[in-house]
Amino acid sequence: MPAKWKTEDIKIGATMEATFWANPVKESSFRYRATHLDGKRAPKVVLCDDPRVRPGVPCMVKVKDIRKPQRDDRGAIEVEFVQALEFKLEGVYLDPIVSKKLQVLLESGLNILLDGPQGCGKTVLAQSIAESLGMEFVLFNCGAVVEATDFLATIQVRASETGQPITDFIKTEFLIALEEAAEHPGRRHLVFLDEFNRCQESARNVLMPALDATRRLYHPIENRFIPITDNVQFIAAVNRGSEFSGTFGIDAAQLDRFAPVQMDYLPPDDEVKLLPARHPELSKNMVKLIVDIGDRLRHTPERGTGLSVRATEEACIYLKHPLMESNQTQLLPEVLKSSFCGRFTGRWDDVSSDAGAAWSVIQKVLREKKRGGGSEQ
Ligand SMILES: Nc1ncnc2c1ncn2[C@@H]1O[C@H](COP(=O)(O)OP(=O)(O)OP(=O)(O)O)[C@@H](O)[C@H]1O
Ligand SMILES: [Mg+2]
Repeated sequence: MPAKWKTEDIKIGATMEATFWANPVKESSFRYRATHLDGKRAPKVVLCDDPRVRPGVPCMVKVKDIRKPQRDDRGAIEVEFVQALEFKLEGVYLDPIVSKKLQVLLESGLNILLDGPQGCGKTVLAQSIAESLGMEFVLFNCGAVVEATDFLATIQVRASETGQPITDFIKTEFLIALEEAAEHPGRRHLVFLDEFNRCQESARNVLMPALDATRRLYHPIENRFIPITDNVQFIAAVNRGSEFSGTFGIDAAQLDRFAPVQMDYLPPDDEVKLLPARHPELSKNMVKLIVDIGDRLRHTPERGTGLSVRATEEACIYLKHPLMESNQTQLLPEVLKSSFCGRFTGRWDDVSSDAGAAWSVIQKVLREKKRGGGSEQ
């Protein structure tokens, strides 16, 4: 399927899905503009002026008119609002309440702070928001930031022809995105500040004016402040809790610049639906058993750390492999020793450690399942 519609494919009267944002052309009589129809780039800008349109929220629209159909470089597709749609994210489970909160926050352009245990889907969520809303996605790993300037540029020293050292400032993707957003008001950027609490608070301070109403940031190369335009949306992600080494507390003033949204692991029933779509080679019963054991570990109070969805995925990857597929039930405990217990401190055979306690839980669930219903394959 081509990634872009041709003008002749768009029919007057057709009902299609679109996501609108404020029209950057201020003098236009249409308040809202979209660039995609049914997920594919439209051949012309899509315009709507209905007050029921909510920026950032997908809606169904009816094509009313195509202006200048012969011209590739001009014209517009005028549409009528039909109805708003719920936020739809492909392949990602999102709690319905969290989904509503995110919808409101994205619509209002507030900075969002995703707060949830490791591997609960913060990064995939941010990625899929960008995809579904047709935004450019920029992932910036704050864990690699040591000094404030690292957000914006890296410094590289090279030798000139005469051997003299020359200092080059290489812009980070974060800075490039901010500059691009200012140059192209029609393009929306989602800047994802991953592992936000893994860099020093002092380094994070450089972002403070970018995150409040000032919306500007000091450009270390050009030695001036650059504006953060409205088409830049920030989403940060943190793992909070004492169990995470290498994390730094977030100071109240920094925290206050975000709308915090709490996330958790997806419910087991939804994980059981998600994993077979990715690992269709495994039986539903086997996936369910892996998820049930993972869920029990997540709900064991003495476990400090959560058990990432990466762990249940990893167990699926092992068991569907030709080296293991014919002997899944026997190999499952061995796989869980590494994929589950290996994610906790200590070793599976050391009962005094977290890994050992996890192993006890795994054995208990396996015994219960065996008593309850024979082979799980
Ligand atoms: N709710 C979810 N929906 C779909 N996939 C999920 C979900 N939660 C976790 N996953 C899967 O688990 C893996 C880890 O997810 P992700 O990297 O988004 O977690 P995270 O919360 O960002 O973790 P970390 O805190 O370690 O950065 C990915 O393969 C992802 O597809
Ligand atoms: Mg992540």
